[in-house]
Amino acid sequence: MEQTLILLKPDAVQRGLAGTILARFEAKGLKIVGLKMLTVSRELAERHYAVHQGKEFYAALLDFITAGPVVAAVLEGNEAIAVSRALIGATFGPEAEPGTIRGDYALSRRYNLIHGSDSPASAAREIPLFFSPAELVQYARPADEWIYARSGDKRI
Ligand code: RTP
Ligand code: MG
Repeated sequence: MEQTLILLKPDAVQRGLAGTILARFEAKGLKIVGLKMLTVSRELAERHYAVHQGKEFYAALLDFITAGPVVAAVLEGNEAIAVSRALIGATFGPEAEPGTIRGDYALSRRYNLIHGSDSPASAAREIPLFFSPAELVQYARPADEWIYARSGDKRI
């Protein structure tokens, strides 16, 4: 099944929203297969946000993501990347739809609580930046029998 990287950014941790936000993904049915708290180093921030290098907001973005601890998670499930992006909402709080994480909890055009991988290629690049293979846990979750239907050996 597809995996995606989620980062609960420093504002989410400082505002005491990390658990609330993570709970939304759990409630959707996505499976947590990796979870850790860390302070993002400058080097890791530069690698993670390399695609934004040279943009006018790049320096501020690096300052933001390194400003305090984050919670990093790898979530697994059917269409985990697109589903997570939909739960997260538009990039900036004032524009994000109510019902999305940013729509419900963010007001800023910089502090937007959460990162989610935006494509399979991004997820494949980002997950190893934050988790070694041994830190990703494989386990059976009986609730999957009711989160997904079975179609042959597939879950749909
Ligand atoms: P993210 O990568 O953090 O999940 O956010 P995103 O896909 O919704 O947005 P993206 O375009 O990838 O931008 C990455 C982060 O950079 C900050 N940003 N600031 N114009 C600006 O001031 C600006 N644009 C982007 C945001 O923190 C955004 O989440
Ligand atoms: Mg992005």
